[in-house]
Amino acid sequence: AARPRLLRPVALVGLMGAGKTTVGRRLAAMLDAPFVDSDEEIEAAARMSVAEIFASMGEDAFRQGERRVIARLVRQSRPAVIATGGGAFMNDDTRALLLSRAATVWIRAELDTLVERVGRKNTRPLLAGGDPRRVLAELMARRHPVYAEAAVVVDSRRGEKHEAVAARILDG
Ligand code: S3P
Repeated sequence: AARPRLLRPVALVGLMGAGKTTVGRRLAAMLDAPFVDSDEEIEAAARMSVAEIFASMGEDAFRQGERRVIARLVRQSRPAVIATGGGAFMNDDTRALLLSRAATVWIRAELDTLVERVGRKNTRPLLAGGDPRRVLAELMARRHPVYAEAAVVVDSRRGEKHEAVAARILDG
């Protein structure tokens, strides 16, 4: 049977460690759609890592770059699955753009799950300064009410395969 073609981009939002990039890759493969990661696009455009951009230009400059990159990604002629950086949806302009142009999906995970996942590879500037659990708990309190504006919410459970999360986004 022919696969359904993606008619609008799918944007994954949620905290660091929720699995946006891995789930996004799987989902894109299932949908036969391109996959893009907004952090990677920003890094390619700036020829610097996210950590370097934060350090040399500051978070505000990063957010402006992020908004421009996402504006381009949601307008691509071939709709993609987009993994957004965890803070992207917190920016009013970026959020308005994503809500109007993409099918938004919040990948929700519990604090323990997030802490466990970010612990493995910690190159994220927001977690560099302090205890990841404390920082993530603060971000969670501030951001979860905003992520809840996404059209769809899926839970990513501890120990669960990212494949299963991607499948649930499709099946509901
Ligand atoms: C950020 C999340 C990161 C990256 C940057 C800021 C955030 O992306 O964009 O470090 O504000 O939550 P991931 O969610 O892909 O780690």
